[in-house]
Amino acid sequence: MDSSLFPIAIGLFLAAASYFLLNRLRFKLPPGPRPKPVVGNLYDIKPVRFRCFAEWAEKYGPIMSVWFGSTLTVIVTTSDLAKEVLKENDQQLADRPRNRSTVRFSRGGKDLIWADYGPHYVKVRKLCNLELFSPKRLELLRPIREDEVTAMVESIFRACTQPDEEGRSLIVRDHISGVAFNNITRLAFGKRFMDANGVIDEQGKEFKAIVSNGIKIGASLSIAEFISWLRWLCPLDEELYRSHNERRDRLTVKILEEHTKARQKSGQTKQHFVDALLTLKDQYDLSDDTVFGLLWDMITAGMDTTVISVEWAMSELVRNPHVQAKVQEELDRVVGRDRVMNETDFSKLPYLQAVVKESLRLHPPTPLMLPHKASAHVKLGGYDIPKGTNVLVNVWAIARDPKVWKNPLEYRPERFIEEEIDIKGADFRILPFGAGRRVCPGAQLGINLVASMLGHLLHHFKWSLPSGVRPEDVDMSESPGMVTFMQTPLKTVATPRLDDPNLYKRVVVEM
Ligand code: HEM
Repeated sequence: MDSSLFPIAIGLFLAAASYFLLNRLRFKLPPGPRPKPVVGNLYDIKPVRFRCFAEWAEKYGPIMSVWFGSTLTVIVTTSDLAKEVLKENDQQLADRPRNRSTVRFSRGGKDLIWADYGPHYVKVRKLCNLELFSPKRLELLRPIREDEVTAMVESIFRACTQPDEEGRSLIVRDHISGVAFNNITRLAFGKRFMDANGVIDEQGKEFKAIVSNGIKIGASLSIAEFISWLRWLCPLDEELYRSHNERRDRLTVKILEEHTKARQKSGQTKQHFVDALLTLKDQYDLSDDTVFGLLWDMITAGMDTTVISVEWAMSELVRNPHVQAKVQEELDRVVGRDRVMNETDFSKLPYLQAVVKESLRLHPPTPLMLPHKASAHVKLGGYDIPKGTNVLVNVWAIARDPKVWKNPLEYRPERFIEEEIDIKGADFRILPFGAGRRVCPGAQLGINLVASMLGHLLHHFKWSLPSGVRPEDVDMSESPGMVTFMQTPLKTVATPRLDDPNLYKRVVVEM
């Protein structure tokens, strides 16, 4: 560091330290682990954060202060407190904290995910609720989802019936990732980047490279992110962000142009999000940054979450064969064995729906939701939450709280048959999609995708553990991160259940 910067650094450090002390003296903050100077509790937080926070809550109580460097984060761990955050103080706690990466990726919150709550957010959210995720559009895009699940069935059938593969285990994630990728890229961008043999084209490769480059850059942030005065001393590699955003924009523009040309040629507008956004851009007064941001938000928010949900559900179903058999009995009774299931069967498959809910209860893909930020001073659980505080709801811990769930660690879908329980934000005991104004706009789409994938997986195949592996041997630990994949990808053996090989063929839908 240039030595002439020392006095400024010390000045900034002192300012941050006084702010920290002032906050602690002026306000009645929730209790929490003792913070160390400068780093706060950063070095005490274990990698799988929601588990660490759940353990700490046992010691410090259901509302806790944790210092990420100089940033105060309050974490709540009961359904009553979740209600205070997401219902009673919803509007004041609906901003998003943005680090330097998310600022650059979202161009200062011009998308939806990283936008603060305000006129821009309200406008874009309205567009999502009324246009992109309307029941009508979900229904119009149903053929894409059904095409993709049948493609998944075909790929698994091919994998498990090859002469030397029979009885061999397969990695479930490999097959479900393809469906999620194709589904979301087709819904959002109207493009299937993969051919019938599972080979991704050049544009698809570029697309994937952009997604993984974004994750890589995002994960490369240092501890300086949490310490305001250090941030100034550790500037980011702006060129890295500039070239990433440029590359992303180039691909997006190309796809937008293809859509505009196709529309001009056929005179018809398609139903994909990209077409909806192009048509509604003027009506909603959307900038290019917002259109691009929204399209990529869908990829970020919609792809891994569905893969994670299905993989965890499958892990429970192979560990609990009686539950698997019960879903299969329901599928055979309702759908039969002579045709393929489709989304219109859902309403007659209550046990399948209960399996989806029970899996999301025990394994919410975003266990701490997305972070919220206070835009004003509020009180939670009798404590002060100063403006600017980040607020996290530990939905993983709440859904396992023995005070509100009977035998919470038991995987028992029947609990959702015995009692009608909403999972889209009305019941604060189970919040896989959050609740309130920032509740996931893709919740119904996500539920349909997960139910459809699980329904097809279970109707077409019997799933068992590889020989010699006992249910208790399955690694049920989570990987660290904002979304929680299984730490060890699930390996299972698939055996076809239906007699007619034609039912295992992809039913192609061009749209
Ligand atoms: C099982 C699947 C899914 C789960 C568990 C899930 C969960 C969540 C959660 C917990 C949030 C944050 C809520 C909050 O901050 O309070 C969220 C936000 C969001 N989700 Fe989902 N999601 C899923 C699928 C999807 C899909 C398929 C899409 C779109 C294609 C989507 C789009 C979004 C967007 C755009 C946001 C940001 C909303 C905002 O900030 O206002 N999600 N999701």
